[in-house]
Amino acid sequence: MTRRSIGIIVNGVTGRMGYRQHLVRSLLAIRSAGGVPLADGTTVWPHLVLVGRSEAKLREIAERHGLDDWTTDLTAALARDDTQVYFDAQVTQQREKAIRQAIDAGKHIYTEKPLAEDTAAALDLARAARAAGVRTGVVQDKLFLPGLRKLKRLLDGGFFGRVLSVRGEFGYWVFEGDWQPAQRPSWNYRAADGGGIVVDMFPHWHYVLAELFGEVRAVSATIATHIPRRVDEAGRPYEATADDAAYGIFELDGGVIAQLNSSWCVRVHRDELVEFQVDGTEGSAVAGLRRCRVQHRAVTPKPVWNPDLPATEDFRSQWTEVPDNEDFDNGFKVQWEAFLRHVATGEPFPWDFLAGARGVQLAELGLLSAREGRRVEVPELSL
Ligand SMILES: NC(=O)c1ccc[n+]([C@@H]2O[C@H](COP(=O)([O-])OP(=O)(O)OC[C@H]3O[C@@H](n4cnc5c(N)ncnc54)[C@H](O)[C@@H]3O)[C@@H](O)[C@H]2O)c1
Repeated sequence: MTRRSIGIIVNGVTGRMGYRQHLVRSLLAIRSAGGVPLADGTTVWPHLVLVGRSEAKLREIAERHGLDDWTTDLTAALARDDTQVYFDAQVTQQREKAIRQAIDAGKHIYTEKPLAEDTAAALDLARAARAAGVRTGVVQDKLFLPGLRKLKRLLDGGFFGRVLSVRGEFGYWVFEGDWQPAQRPSWNYRAADGGGIVVDMFPHWHYVLAELFGEVRAVSATIATHIPRRVDEAGRPYEATADDAAYGIFELDGGVIAQLNSSWCVRVHRDELVEFQVDGTEGSAVAGLRRCRVQHRAVTPKPVWNPDLPATEDFRSQWTEVPDNEDFDNGFKVQWEAFLRHVATGEPFPWDFLAGARGVQLAELGLLSAREGRRVEVPELSL
């Protein structure tokens, strides 16, 4: 089988997402599977050039995985003729500058979300990439979660009738870092370092809502910094200046109302760390990361409100599990494969920089809504 190598610069590979989801679970997994097969019978083989700030950490990661191409010099990696793709999983604040450099070097670009820190910068990157003729992509991993794939299957099959509303709960308790270490990096809790749950989660909510239910037309959000003081990786206390919870209402095309809570200050009493309940005229579903359960109109019981009596029904048992019916691979890997096919063959890839800019816009307008205490309409973005 003919194998063609694509040189991929992986920047931010020492970070949580860069290492685990992108290097190990996606790119190395693709290599273990022999590459990405194309329709013409050839295979795309990712050649990885690891980039980061710490020589020692890069060497250690490279050796652990049998890789030998790494550098702390991004400019040199971008100057190489054998690198075609630049990937960015750095902290958000470092992204725009590095992507601009990659566009100037004529590389195709794939990046973690959010694409940039504000909508103007994100749109500017999208326009610059188009002008340079390079292909672009932004991570939209939640679309590939088994639970959401099953939800999409239900929508495509007309299960819901008319969708009325979506209610989502995302979150878990992120430790403050004093008596137990925090399980997320401390920059997430400092506004000046690009932190905050709105910029982290609203880009995800944008593509989930737009792809499944309809484009977001208006947003109302209330945000909070519930835990004002945390302790960082080095054991130093710091002021948490970024929002750690966001309570949002999103009005979608076609009249669907979505209400999504995102919080790092909530203890989990759910089956999964994110769950969406969708109610439609014909049926309802509750989808999480992996599972999806439904209740059809024809089998909906008739609860009667009577607070004087203990509940007699086991409401959860009245729902039916949606079967897998297919194999679900890691979502990050599936999207990487699609992006590499897009680069190699021009196969369509809808999750480009303009799609990423829409996610940044929703975060920006969510914060504006919270700051001014009002509902904000979301204008259509175009290049
Ligand atoms: N798709 C998702 O579900 C998802 C989840 C979490 C984070 N993310 C995104 O991934 C990106 C990285 O997040 P993470 O949680 O992996 O963060 P992290 O702190 O674990 O990793 C950050 C990476 O950036 C590098 N870096 C480069 N310049 C830096 C600087 N000046 N200061 C600090 N670090 C610098 C670090 O060395 C490290 O490799 C963020 O943009 C975040 O929004 C996406």
